Amino acid sequence: MKKYLLFFLICTISFAQKKTIEQRVDSVLTLMTLDEKVGQLVQFTGGFDTGTQTSKPREGHIELIRLGKIGSMLNVFGAEQTGKIQKIALEETRLKIPLLFGLDVIHGFRTTFPVPLAEASSWDLELVERSARMQAIESSSSGIHWTFTPMVDIARDPRWGRIVEGSGEDTYLGSMMGAARVKGYQGNDLSLSNTIAACVKHFAGYGAAEGGRDYNTVDLSERTFREIYLPPFKKALEAGVATFMVSFNEIGGVPASANKWLLKNILREEWKFKGPVVSDWNSIGELIPHGVAKDLKHAAEIGINAGVDIDMEANAYNTQLAELVRDKKVSMAVINESVRRVLRLKFQLGLFDDPYKYCDAGREKSTIRSGEMIKSSLESARNSIVLLKNKNNLLPLNKNLKKIAVIGPLANSKLDPLGPWYQQGWPSEVITVFEGIKNKLGETAEVVYEQGCILSGDSKSGFSAAVSAAMNADVVILCIGESLEMSGEAHSRASLDLPGPQNALAEEIYKTGKPVVAVLMNGRPLTINYLAENIPAILETWFLGNEAGNAIADVLFGDHNPSGKLPVTFPRSIGQVPLHYNYKNTGRPYNPEKPMYTTSYMDFPNAPLYPFGFGLSYTTFEYSDLKLSGKKIGKNESITVSINVKNTGARDGEEVVQLYIRDLVGSVTRPVKELKDFSKIYLKAGETKPVKFIITPDKLKFYDINMKYTVEPGDFKVFVGTNSVDLKEADFSVID
Ligand code: NOJ
Repeated sequence: MKKYLLFFLICTISFAQKKTIEQRVDSVLTLMTLDEKVGQLVQFTGGFDTGTQTSKPREGHIELIRLGKIGSMLNVFGAEQTGKIQKIALEETRLKIPLLFGLDVIHGFRTTFPVPLAEASSWDLELVERSARMQAIESSSSGIHWTFTPMVDIARDPRWGRIVEGSGEDTYLGSMMGAARVKGYQGNDLSLSNTIAACVKHFAGYGAAEGGRDYNTVDLSERTFREIYLPPFKKALEAGVATFMVSFNEIGGVPASANKWLLKNILREEWKFKGPVVSDWNSIGELIPHGVAKDLKHAAEIGINAGVDIDMEANAYNTQLAELVRDKKVSMAVINESVRRVLRLKFQLGLFDDPYKYCDAGREKSTIRSGEMIKSSLESARNSIVLLKNKNNLLPLNKNLKKIAVIGPLANSKLDPLGPWYQQGWPSEVITVFEGIKNKLGETAEVVYEQGCILSGDSKSGFSAAVSAAMNADVVILCIGESLEMSGEAHSRASLDLPGPQNALAEEIYKTGKPVVAVLMNGRPLTINYLAENIPAILETWFLGNEAGNAIADVLFGDHNPSGKLPVTFPRSIGQVPLHYNYKNTGRPYNPEKPMYTTSYMDFPNAPLYPFGFGLSYTTFEYSDLKLSGKKIGKNESITVSINVKNTGARDGEEVVQLYIRDLVGSVTRPVKELKDFSKIYLKAGETKPVKFIITPDKLKFYDINMKYTVEPGDFKVFVGTNSVDLKEADFSVID
């Protein structure tokens, strides 16, 4: 009898395994009550607020889990903690549906990596994918199934604090970075216990907030929306992203959480996305202050009918959806579709087969802060640094220097290098610039530290000690910029200047006549005209995470040759904002010699301080022999661009070769330049390498006068070079 029972069980299990995910989803769905279905669409946070250090469900939520009324949690982590909560879902609910645990692993879990804007400066897609992979391995070991990233919002306004979370101003670079991250988090197989589901966000247009104020109104033409803001989302989808998060903003009068055109017409019908869409934090509830919903019930109705599957934290679906179904305001078919998407993800992650696979405390212990994590975070940090200025080759510094003054409010900060979205990173595990330099030089040099000033107020009381430290040193490393609290969500700034008395500190240090290297830490482009004019060497380091100090010391002393390039334009004045390289020519193009009656300012040039794509190296590169495979191509044909790049300096180094195009005459106006490809190459001193790019029809397409996405016949320019300004150019035509 026992034998038969066992045989029956085995058959059932293997039959279950053979069933497709769709069949398994349906077989669960048919067992569910309306309340249980709604439960799958409800997400609550643990702790007290977004991104806190706490990891427990809040008061009352355990009971809701027991009743099957919560499908996913955010901000609950830890192998043991998530295991405990999962056990309640599995042993105490009627249907034993596993919970999903999500977290904002934006630039690391416990090991903190460079902020996304920094990693985008590497222009190194493999590196970015590797870094995301590491972050997935570390966070998954601590119970996390799902990260709310990549953020692919294009940001043309550095006042917006969340510029730090994305890849900057460019659609192509941002698309490639987002896709690399998705691949890194999700790997090739979502069902493995060290891969996690990614969530591309914030859908959509969030970076175009008026005035750079977070959460503010967005009003874009459909053409700009589709050409500039949407492609990174499409690219993430093509890379297999499992989930989408809607944005807080409205687009042309319709908040994203209420936007059927966005969530249904574009996402489901045009793009065929099958996964779940999650709201942003209380974005369903915010439909009330937006002024499109009269109360929470109305907000829930609008949200679910618009296509938001999961309600994060608004408590709207939890309290209103069942009644809305009974009132016939929301159809059962809509609920079923949303539930299917959530269940499908749980099956894809393998949670029905092994709900505790992410809850292994042994794996957690050996993974968190492992040597591999630290090594990868250091590698990312080194490659994220951009050398903005290096007069008379002041850098790299000689390791024989005897006295080094490390000065500035960020020189020995343990917290700030972690960056604004640090998750569980510990300040005590951060290497500061002061420590990094001491690590590098050991006992051979005297390294002194002076804070000089703080990042706010106007007190100059620390100046004299800083100046005398500088006077006694062979070289000064001046670490200035922003605190980690000055960028990120809800941290927009109306000024791009160095905060506090830092500029004055730089002036005083400069007056000592000592060689000065400015090391910048900041979450956005800053207006640093004084530094650019006076300080001989400038490194942009953004926020580099745990290994900041070691990475910066590697670059300062030449153990790493910097190769980063700016993913965003540095303006000279906030009045120039928005300032991006891919502007339109206009009917009155700017004439720097005679600006009057051209598109210009009376008091400032149009040119940025540092252009998009800019970054120096300790070696030099020469571009020659730009060639095209032909002069004319058909609409469906590709053209090959080739160029030789030579390392003309004395050091080995990496160069980011950038390709831009311009469509000279179109049925609608086109940007003066658009990045369409890039290639990061390594060249030994004296070495020359040919670089090839293929311009496919896809790279020439745009939305024409009839909003048709197409290639228009006509003349094109192609530019190749080291940044968006210093370029070689050639011409070709597309014929009908
Ligand atoms: C609000 C943020 O806008 C979003 O990016 C984040 O994922 C959620 N909070 C959850 O923390």
